[in-house]
Amino acid sequence: MSLALELGELAAEIAREAGELARTRRQEGVRLAATKSSLADIVTEADREVEALIRERLRASRADDGFLGEESGAEGGASGITWVVDPIDGTVNYAYGIPAYNVSIAAVRGEPDPESWEALAAAVNAPALGEIFTAARGHGAWSDGIRLAVTEETPAGALLATGFGYDPATHDGDLATVGRVMPMARDLRRMGSAALDLAYVAAGRLDGYFERGLKPWDHAAGALLVAEAGGIVSRIDVDSPRPMLIAGGPDVHARLRVILDAKH
Ligand code: IPD
Ligand code: CA
Repeated sequence: MSLALELGELAAEIAREAGELARTRRQEGVRLAATKSSLADIVTEADREVEALIRERLRASRADDGFLGEESGAEGGASGITWVVDPIDGTVNYAYGIPAYNVSIAAVRGEPDPESWEALAAAVNAPALGEIFTAARGHGAWSDGIRLAVTEETPAGALLATGFGYDPATHDGDLATVGRVMPMARDLRRMGSAALDLAYVAAGRLDGYFERGLKPWDHAAGALLVAEAGGIVSRIDVDSPRPMLIAGGPDVHARLRVILDAKH
């Protein structure tokens, strides 16, 4: 079996177990939390607990690999492979009981830097939606036994998604960007989970996606899903604090890139 497939199977297995833990903690949290602030505490604990589980499982199976996680940080490895992990992507959805959250796990080769790494394997598991999306480099992107493919034609305009970070200071700029993109859009979705936005582009449920300020763990797995489904993912303004990530089928990606690359 190729290394990418092997890593993909491991990513999927761990993402399933981690997703179940997140879902269980969420159910317990709803029962336990009477107020929003205590719910937020539980969310934080679930984030950490899920990441710890993933890290432990990876250490047991692949002790020489590096790790880069949202909650517990980075640790180098000797194998040249790094696992890039978001234990719960879509944390605000998770806190509010919206099912669009997921466990996102990717294995990348090279420096753990999105500009240079080569993604080998990915799993995005959305336990409350009952869906897992997986990809292995050179072997396609899959969900429920079906090979995923990005959309090619958008005669009625592109169904796009975006996200806004959590810092209110950036909202005006992001809304202005939306205004520039809308002329090519059929409509715009705002799901609150970058990894699911990317999985949906891979699955042809969205024609394109763009967002500023994502962190490596937000897009590592989802970007490989899109690429293996025949789409393109690129980033601009990579040296700024809020790089822009653009994803879509080749045509939509190209059109988005022209609009988003233009300096206004
Ligand atoms: C966030 C989600 C959200 C995006 C934010 C991310 P988190 O990740 O992916 O959709 O708009 O930029 O930070 O914090 O829920 O893991
Ligand atoms: Ca997260």
